[in-house]
Amino acid sequence: MTEQERIAQLRTELHRHNYNYYVLNTPTISDQDFDALLRELQELEVRHPELFDPNSPSQRVGSDLSNEFESVEHQYPMLSLANTYNRDEVRQFYERVSEGLAGEPFEICCELKFDGLSISLVYEDGRLVRAVTRGDGVRGDDVTANIRTIRTIPLQLSDPAPVEADAPAVGADGQALLFGLDEDNSHWRVSASNTAAPEQQALTAPAVTHWPRRFEIRGEVLMPWTSFEALNREREADEEPLFANPRNAASGTLKSKQTAVVAKRKLDAYLYYLLGEELPADGHYENMEAARSWGFKVSRHMRKASTIEEVFEFIDYWDVERKNLPVATDGIVLKVNSLRQQQTLGMTAKSPRWAIAYKFQAEQASTVLREVTFQVGRTGAVTPVANMDPVQLSGTVVRRATLHNADFVAQLDLHVGDHVLVEKGGEIIPKIVAVDEAFAHLPRGPKVEFISRCPECGAELVRYEGEAAWYCPNDSGCPPQIKGRIEHFVSRRAMNIDTLGPETIEEYYDRGLIRNYADLYDLQVDQLSGANDSRIRSARKTVKAIEDSRQVPFERVLFALGIRFVGESVAKTLARNFKSIDALAQASLDDFLQINSIGTAIAESVIQWFRNDDNLRIVERLRGYGLQLQLSEETLLQQSDRLAGKSIVISGVFAHHSRDEYKALIEQHGGKNVGSISAKTSFILAGDNMGPAKLEKAQKLGIAIISEDVFLRMIGE
Ligand code: IVH
Repeated sequence: MTEQERIAQLRTELHRHNYNYYVLNTPTISDQDFDALLRELQELEVRHPELFDPNSPSQRVGSDLSNEFESVEHQYPMLSLANTYNRDEVRQFYERVSEGLAGEPFEICCELKFDGLSISLVYEDGRLVRAVTRGDGVRGDDVTANIRTIRTIPLQLSDPAPVEADAPAVGADGQALLFGLDEDNSHWRVSASNTAAPEQQALTAPAVTHWPRRFEIRGEVLMPWTSFEALNREREADEEPLFANPRNAASGTLKSKQTAVVAKRKLDAYLYYLLGEELPADGHYENMEAARSWGFKVSRHMRKASTIEEVFEFIDYWDVERKNLPVATDGIVLKVNSLRQQQTLGMTAKSPRWAIAYKFQAEQASTVLREVTFQVGRTGAVTPVANMDPVQLSGTVVRRATLHNADFVAQLDLHVGDHVLVEKGGEIIPKIVAVDEAFAHLPRGPKVEFISRCPECGAELVRYEGEAAWYCPNDSGCPPQIKGRIEHFVSRRAMNIDTLGPETIEEYYDRGLIRNYADLYDLQVDQLSGANDSRIRSARKTVKAIEDSRQVPFERVLFALGIRFVGESVAKTLARNFKSIDALAQASLDDFLQINSIGTAIAESVIQWFRNDDNLRIVERLRGYGLQLQLSEETLLQQSDRLAGKSIVISGVFAHHSRDEYKALIEQHGGKNVGSISAKTSFILAGDNMGPAKLEKAQKLGIAIISEDVFLRMIGE
């Protein structure tokens, strides 16, 4: 491959990763791998100035614009920091600074790099007036209403308080006692020594300074580990997708349109950078202390270093100790302390020359593999799971980790009793990355073999072409598949029978009351409660909820059936096009392929499903119980083809219907609601306050903007 081709390849790849990270909030590679690719690109671009492209991923700081909020310009652009993963580069940074300052003495302020999303807060006369996300560095989203719900962010500053706790005290033996307050301000750590841990530096109380009339303060919004775990437990119970890490949870939360959601989610914020015309001191560290005295949450774990050795001490200390912090951190930030010296050093196009971020390696832990078990999912896919000695990793105790599939197990050459390295990457489920070579000299246990029969029902496993997983083909007789299908059937977005959780389903299954979802409609109150009076109330509720589900509209029943590849939106499309389950059951491959968004895989899966006699019997039973197996008269009457083939973006605030209602209306009339504007967009249905970024894009692409009233006339309402 020529260097020119490599540049093109890297740009495409990095664009995709940027999109995954910023827009979808689901990165598929580690930060470190991303940075390595970006660096490779930057180096190649330096060698090939003739290939300059203003749209190259190297030219942007990243964007988190979401269109949902008003976009506003930052008074001072929000730059990011140069990243490094190794000590040599830290040393080089230190030397560059020293040279840049012509040998003048300087101090480096060392601090934690919090892993959340950056925010800029503007205060006037002691009141919070504006909070803006970083966006593309120049413009960001105004999220002031959401930020106001974060309790650690002061809305109105109090009179400056002296920072007593940080003043050095003297112990009984006359040694300085050094205090460090934990990040959650919950308990004190005290050590009596003059060789205290490097993060614990005796601080002198700063002179009490009043805040400037107008200033900006920047920091990181984050979700503490405990809130993050509680949130995911809740989402799991509600069958909502889990957040991969606290950063994504914080970012998803801050972009919520409902401030109430934000308030509930327990976000937190650390402030680490003060900007303005009349700051209290020349030192960054001193300014942050002043800010703390005004009521801001400023980390106590900051330290001024006057030698490179002190910098490394700080790094080494926190590389280990950060695991005990209540919030996620992904590195250390080093800043030249004096603002005057910062000015002398200046900026490059993207980042200041006076600061650098040292990033930690993705956290790994070594532990012993005790056993590999095999888990069968709703679709019959078999996943190997490593059961290990419990080990602490990124704030939680890990006992189980995924081994993905048979190929992965074979590739690792895994033996029972091996020491293995576990890592938490961007994903929430920990994974085994390697056998720990440090223990390679020990005798090894038996080799881990993949199974050939289903651990649940004994059926011989099969492998479908092009798939990495082994499957249990016994879908109608394998317990986890049966229970999984029933769980899916009752889930909120399907039949919404919310009194039936996984445990209840398991119990009914074990008692032989249900073998498939049609059996639910035969359940009787006395059967469920047994002889137990206290259970009558809940049994009645369950039977009632099952009965009520007969009103659930056809498209959701279709989704509930659990046909492979028929998710929510495919179910809607099929329902709209075929109108009844009988028409769907009769449809030929050709009939399916007439529909825009339906391909062969979906078509064949549906055809296959209706060829199975067991399934046909279940459909007949559901019909007998009165479930909706066709579109309702009302929907049929309302339905039209007026918007057939149209891709429509909804933007802004509406007077006559909610956004969701407009979405439903578009679908009812054969159109498709899409999330973002592209050349393929037919028109934008725009209410009030359409975001300026969307407006600009629409104008650039020449896409029509249709008002609410015009739209309602289009569909004949
Ligand atoms: S200072 C010009 N300090 O890391 C310097 N940033 O790429 C502005 N971050 O965008 C940043 N902890 O979101 C600074 N103690 C800290 C930080 C920190 C986390 C984030 C911030 C920034 C990114 C650097």
